[in-house]
Order: sequence, then structure tokens, then C-alpha cells
Amino acid sequence: MEFTGKIALITGGGGGIGRASALGFAQRGAKVVVVDLDQAEGEASAELIRQRGGDARFVRAVNLTLGPQNHDIDGAETIWDFFRGFP
Ligand SMILES: NC(=O)c1ccc[n+]([C@@H]2O[C@H](COP(=O)([O-])OP(=O)(O)OC[C@H]3O[C@@H](n4cnc5c(N)ncnc54)[C@H](O)[C@@H]3O)[C@@H](O)[C@H]2O)c1
Repeated sequence: MEFTGKIALITGGGGGIGRASALGFAQRGAKVVVVDLDQAEGEASAELIRQRGGDARFVRAVNLTLGPQNHDIDGAETIWDFFRGFP
């Protein structure tokens, strides 16, 4: 299956099944948004994709269990910028 022209948003993309899925979608042509609570591992997944010639961004997951004071919309804005840049 080919995903050229599609964007895949992978939650838990910083490790395990999520990282494998992110790499798999990218290998098949998708631009990938890697979402994870773990910033270092999520960014590592996105970097792995870019090193292999793909296009990927990392967005830190918002942990809703920490309460409203810990929410931010940085991730949402990053996703919006990513989609807006997509022809
Ligand atoms: N590995 C297996 O064989 C297997 C089999 C059946 C089901 N599962 C389930 O699939 C899921 C993933 O398994 P895995 O082995 O890839 O786990 P993993 O621990 O290797 O990877 C999970 C990733 O998700 C991230 N994460 C955790 N909570 C998150 C959240 N709320 N938002 C965003 N990111 C979050 C972690 O930081 C980590 O990078 C788990 O729920 C696991 O129980 C795994």
C-alpha cells in the first residue's frame, strides 16, 4: 500500500510498535507526525525517518491526567503548521 500525498499521525511513535509504524508509513511515502510523551524518543523517531529521506516532525503529547494547568497548545500549532505546509 502506498501513502504518498498522505499524512500519518502516529501516537506513541517514540518507541516499540509506534516507532515501527511511523517508519513503515514513511517508507511508503507518508509524511509523518510522531506524537509521544517522551520528547527524546519521539524526536529520535522523526530524525530516523528524515535520515532515511522521509519527512517527519515530532509533537509532544499532552498528558491530560496532569490537570488543565499543564496543557499547552504548542503541539496543536506545530501540527497546524505542518499541515499548512503540505501542498
Ligand atoms: N509489544 C507487543 O507485543 C504488544 C502486543 C499487544 C499489545 N501491545 C500494546 O501496544 C501498545 C504499544 O506497545 P509497545 O510494545 O510498542 O510499547 P512501548 O512501551 O515500546 O512504546 C509505547 C510508546 O508510547 C509512548 N506513550 C505512552 N503513553 C503515551 C500517551 N498517553 N501519549 C503518547 N505517547 C505515549 C511511550 O512513551 C512509548 O514511546 C501498548 O499499549 C501495549 O500494551 C503491545
